Amino acid sequence: MARSITSLLKVEISRHFDVQLNMPRVKFLEHNGTAHEIEARAGANLMQTALIQKVPGIIGDCGGSCACATCHVYIEDGERIPPVDELEAQMLEQAIDVNNNSRLACQIVGKYGLDGLTIRIPSRQF
Ligand code: FES
Repeated sequence: MARSITSLLKVEISRHFDVQLNMPRVKFLEHNGTAHEIEARAGANLMQTALIQKVPGIIGDCGGSCACATCHVYIEDGERIPPVDELEAQMLEQAIDVNNNSRLACQIVGKYGLDGLTIRIPSRQF
C-alpha cells in the first residue's frame, strides 16, 4: 500500500532533524495483568495521561504536585528516564510496596524518549 505524503514527510523530517513526530506510546499494566497501550501526550505527565485515558489504579490526589504518592508506579526499562530527585524520593517513602523500580507517575513527563515504556500499577495506592 502506498504511503501518504504526510507519512513520507514525517519520515524525512525525523531523519534530518533527529526527532520523532508521532506521539510516544506507553503501556500501563494493571496489577491483574490488564494492559492499556495508549498514546502519551507530549508535555503531560504519566499520571495525567493515565487519568485522561481512564487507566484504573492511579489516583493522583494532589494533582501532580508531588505531595501525595497516590500515583505510585513501577517503571520497566526506566534507565531512559531522568532519575528520582530529592523531593520525589521523599514522597516515595510514603508509598506502599516500594521497590527499586518505583516512581511517581506525576514526575515523569511524556516525551518522545518514552516510546515503548511499560508502567506497572501496584495493587493499591494506600
Ligand atoms: S499525583 Fe500526588 S504525588 Fe503524584
